[in-house]
Amino acid sequence: MISEGERKISWASQRMDVLNQIKKRFSREKPLEGLTIGMALHVEAKTACLVEALVEGGAEVAITGCNPLSTDDDVAKALSGRNGVSCYARYGLSREEYYKAINKVLDHKPDIVIDDGADLIFELHMRRADIIENVVGASEETTTGVNRIKVMEAEGVLKFPVIAVNNALTKFLFDNRYGTGQSTWDGIIRTTNILIAGKNVVVAGYGWCGKGIALRAKGLGANVIVTEVDPVRALEALMDGFRVMPMEKAVEIGDIFITATGNRDIIQGEHFLKMKNGALLANAGHFNVEIDVDGLEKMAKEVRESRKMITEYNLGDKKLYVLAEGRLVNLVAGDGHPIEVMDMSFSNQALCAEYLWNNRERLENRVYDVPSEIDRSVAEIKLETIGVKIDTLTDTQIRYLSSWRDGT
Ligand code: NAD
Ligand code: ADE
Repeated sequence: MISEGERKISWASQRMDVLNQIKKRFSREKPLEGLTIGMALHVEAKTACLVEALVEGGAEVAITGCNPLSTDDDVAKALSGRNGVSCYARYGLSREEYYKAINKVLDHKPDIVIDDGADLIFELHMRRADIIENVVGASEETTTGVNRIKVMEAEGVLKFPVIAVNNALTKFLFDNRYGTGQSTWDGIIRTTNILIAGKNVVVAGYGWCGKGIALRAKGLGANVIVTEVDPVRALEALMDGFRVMPMEKAVEIGDIFITATGNRDIIQGEHFLKMKNGALLANAGHFNVEIDVDGLEKMAKEVRESRKMITEYNLGDKKLYVLAEGRLVNLVAGDGHPIEVMDMSFSNQALCAEYLWNNRERLENRVYDVPSEIDRSVAEIKLETIGVKIDTLTDTQIRYLSSWRDGT
């Protein structure tokens, strides 16, 4: 009988049309023949489809999770049984076990690294100098990981080229915005079973993730409040129709708080004391540093599991509820982004692995954007697989756009 993990992978695979096209070509051309790819990603069904495509391309894959609570054990088990795949991911790893699993991936001496959050790249640089020479390059999936690697580049410590997959248009415009927008609400709603209409929802950070979360909150009928530190993004939120105010004020009126800043200490200390009884707190940012859960625990008289994935903090005069331990709520309390969105993100990843290998002689130890040919081809194939056609420029239009003589 087919296992639960295989069923989940097969369900996702049927909807990853772009990645499937790439997989077919990889199967014919074997562009990754003989390579070892080391990965630290959220190990769930869509990620398994990326692994399948890389293996079809001829690679051996060693993979672990990039968050202690985002692994789907059914999928991890299914991956472990595959030829050419070693999977070290498991749900609920301690910090020590998490880094042990990363080191097991590194023991495979990867030629290429695919990371989400940069913990694997960090470990390679800090503790695995023994194998770092072997790595021709890496790609990074998320904003926080790209930020970390850009700091490494600025400090002159980066030891191989890294492609910022997060910064591809076909990644952040869809994954960070519509992916996080939908899956964050999926995680919150399936965990709490509460009505969103009429609630005051506070979204911290109006970046690509925050925009998606706020947009979907509005669609669900919430009154949306945005907090920001960037004046341009604050203005954008205002003109998109949301109220903007400092967190210090927002904490007094919010029913549901969602952080998506990639920064730390967004909700902490005094904030908890000013909140309404029953307020729900969730995080969609990469690391669990946005809501100071440890600080809240110290302030609480009693802490208990209120329902699966919901921790109740009794502060005496009120109870506050933290979802998914303050870790990314869409992956820990949900299935991550919708399949069709990860199709584009992971197609970029597969094509960037091929690009890194083909261009290994000329790439420097820098952070690179995804080549625009790759980004554009992902959009083109996506449209084609959806069955949407678009217009093409005529020769006259091309000439017009490249001339400066035609005016009034
Ligand atoms: P972004 O850079 O586009 O936006 C972050 C925003 O937060 C910026 O506008 C910034 O000004 C704002 N900000 C920073 N500090 C703040 C503070 N103290 N108060 C209020 N606002 C503040 O980043 P993004 O692409 O939206 O990603 C945000 C986080 O979500 C990152 O950690 C990223 O890795 C993560 N992410 C998660 C998922 C997911 O599946 N949950 C998906 C993609 C990205
Ligand atoms: N599923 C696998 N990786 C993911 C990611 N980075 N964000 C959301 N869902 C995912």
